[in-house]
Amino acid sequence: MQKDIKNMPITKHLIAPSVLAADFAKLYDDIQMINNSEADWFHIDIMDGVFVPNISFGFPVMQAIAKYATKPLDVHLMIVDPDRYLKNCKDSGASMITVHYEACTHLHRTLAAIKELGCKAGVALNPHTPVSLLADVIRDIDLVLVMSVNPGFGGQKFIERTYDKVKALRALAAGVNDSLLIEIDGGVTLQNAASLLQAGANVLVAGSFVFNAADSMETIKKLKAVDYTLRSV
Ligand code: DX5
Ligand code: ZN
Repeated sequence: MQKDIKNMPITKHLIAPSVLAADFAKLYDDIQMINNSEADWFHIDIMDGVFVPNISFGFPVMQAIAKYATKPLDVHLMIVDPDRYLKNCKDSGASMITVHYEACTHLHRTLAAIKELGCKAGVALNPHTPVSLLADVIRDIDLVLVMSVNPGFGGQKFIERTYDKVKALRALAAGVNDSLLIEIDGGVTLQNAASLLQAGANVLVAGSFVFNAADSMETIKKLKAVDYTLRSV
């Protein structure tokens, strides 16, 4: 069942723990931890072993998560030909569906199809993909997911170049899509969170930093409490 994201004002940055880093043998406990924490969304990484060199989990697992999650599912599709699976994804409980720029031949059409399903439409950029390639669709996007590692695995090192990409993206959206959500995915920690938010990001995904912590709920609380002054573009 899709969680309602209408009328969800963004007054503070959002935290989206990545379920990829959860303990799949006790997934229910980790879902409840996220439900009870200050996290805003569940980040769901779907990998096909073709677009990325790894396979995570698919829609049956996502449906099981959706059954118990009390917060919106933010789905990151790391798959080729995502158009084939958009309806499945929505029916499995997605509120936000993000496709990779590099996997879409007709991105504008794909974004329209996601919105037609009643979901927020996101585009993910690999570290090598310049922000400027979004110039002609920036108005049509609800969320841009900036990959700050190469997609496929949790626990990788954050790529420092990401800050400049976030600033460039905020500048590209200024005046035409000021409510654009900019989400950072990969290697997010308390060390880089404030700088990312200052650069213009407003959604932080965190996988291993949350789930490898001694106290995951407390770590989410700290990420949510990060203070920053929004940089003007
Ligand atoms: C990587 C995934 C990420 C991953 C992040 O391809 O898209 O969402 O789970 O994990 P950390 O936070 O450990 O880098
Ligand atoms: Zn992701």
